[in-house]
Amino acid sequence: MAKQDDSFKKLTSHCKEYGFIFQSSEIYDGLAAVYDYGPYGVELKNNIKQYWWQAMVQMHENIVGIDAAIFMHPKTWKASGHVDAFNDPMLDNKDSKKRYRADVLVEEYMEKLDAKADKEVAKAKKRFGDDFDEAMYRETNPRVKGYLDKKAAIGTRLATAMTNSDLVDMKAMIEELEIVCPVSGSKNWTDVRQFNLMFSTQLGVVAGEESILYLRPETAQGIFVNFLNVQKTSRQKIPFGIAQIGKAFRNEIVARQFIFRMREFEQMEMQFFIAPGKDEQFYQHWKAERMKWHLRLHPQEKLRYHDHENLAHYASAAVDIQFEFPFGFRELEGIHARGGFDLTQHQELSGRKITYFDNERDESYTPHVVETSIGVDRMFLATMTNAYTEEVVPDAKGNDSVRIVLKIAPALAPIKCAVLPLLKNKPELTAKAREVLKGLQHAFTCQYDEKDAIGRRYRRQDAIGTPYCVTIDFDTLEDNTVTVRDRDTLEQVRVDISEVEGMIAGKVSMNELFRE
Ligand code: GAP
Repeated sequence: MAKQDDSFKKLTSHCKEYGFIFQSSEIYDGLAAVYDYGPYGVELKNNIKQYWWQAMVQMHENIVGIDAAIFMHPKTWKASGHVDAFNDPMLDNKDSKKRYRADVLVEEYMEKLDAKADKEVAKAKKRFGDDFDEAMYRETNPRVKGYLDKKAAIGTRLATAMTNSDLVDMKAMIEELEIVCPVSGSKNWTDVRQFNLMFSTQLGVVAGEESILYLRPETAQGIFVNFLNVQKTSRQKIPFGIAQIGKAFRNEIVARQFIFRMREFEQMEMQFFIAPGKDEQFYQHWKAERMKWHLRLHPQEKLRYHDHENLAHYASAAVDIQFEFPFGFRELEGIHARGGFDLTQHQELSGRKITYFDNERDESYTPHVVETSIGVDRMFLATMTNAYTEEVVPDAKGNDSVRIVLKIAPALAPIKCAVLPLLKNKPELTAKAREVLKGLQHAFTCQYDEKDAIGRRYRRQDAIGTPYCVTIDFDTLEDNTVTVRDRDTLEQVRVDISEVEGMIAGKVSMNELFRE
């Protein structure tokens, strides 16, 4: 656990030190769970969005995009169920005055049981050596089985309590498990209450129920209310999808773990409209497709599916794609079969008929929906987690030294190529380097750097994940060649300036990610 905390701390301070992410309004001591993206952060974030948009919209004839407003008619949120059911169960500790999510406290208790079981297994592994059968041990060792059975029983009870909004049982669980406040150490809890996660504001100058506006807690509703507009104007036939990238806002109670859980964040959502009865087929289809998208960037062992135990108020089936963050496997993306819930609800509250005439079936129906929904910021954190590497390499004198390198897929890297004159105080080198820079800037994001020794400049580029460094030296002035250094292999090749763009462009293009 300490090792994980340490790697997470290193990652968050790296993000700040190298201009990826800053705390919002930091000069005023910051705003909790709100973050700003710096110069490299915004490039990486834009590239992640482009990778998603290209995979979802550009490469599917039957998916189109929209960009809906953040503010929507207040009835939208009544129809969607968010006014009545978008709640987290929370309670306060009376001594520390800290507020917690009841389900998170119980989940953390379950994680501790898991950790205890893992500790027993690790001890046994050491004792039995090569002959150790871990699966068998987990099933048969009374102590391990005790921990795991207890965890499973608590999980089932929590799921039921969450599904039924049984706040009394949630409080009872916290009391029975003797969960204490991490700050005060006391068990002096208030009752569990529901807390709505939507931020609200006022429209115009008239106060009152009618003029309450919500900051959207998901982008999906902008798609649902535009279903008829988009279907008619794009002449799409079912099955087809509508995709959107945009900001969402949630007044999260437990807002921590850096950009994992924020109060203002960005989502990339796609609602796929299908004929009723096709739900399972398309649910399975998108579940597989979305995993493929992740596997182009991340190793298999960092990703897994996790079926939902307690379904959201709209879902008939739901699975998370989880990623192994430094603090464990957590939700990165959700795939939900939402049935006809959303369009039916909007039809009812708006009084407008929202149906589709299916020529093949020769009938009208309310389409069903399978949705894929991923947080841009969580994808950013996953990408940084996977990329952050400390490795021992020889320094200029041949001694071992640690380099920090972000092994980001070149297509997503904030800067694709750094242009470096060998020496700063040689005008003939710097002039040539600027000429090379001008020749490459139109093709991809480049950076010019002449400060410090060349070795330090390479390390700076490694730390922001630049896949290629082009160095201009005295030979360049003679024969028009430069060295191109590869971030991952550290190999340097000498090529003619005229070849540099072609050599790098292919490797940093989005197409590289889509090549099978
Ligand atoms: N329209 C469905 C929906 O919004 P969700 O599971 O609540 O489903 C989808 O959210 C994704 O949005 C999550 O998988 C996660 O990546 C991201 N997300 C949700 N809440 C977030 C938060 N507070 N901070 C950052 N990302 C968040």
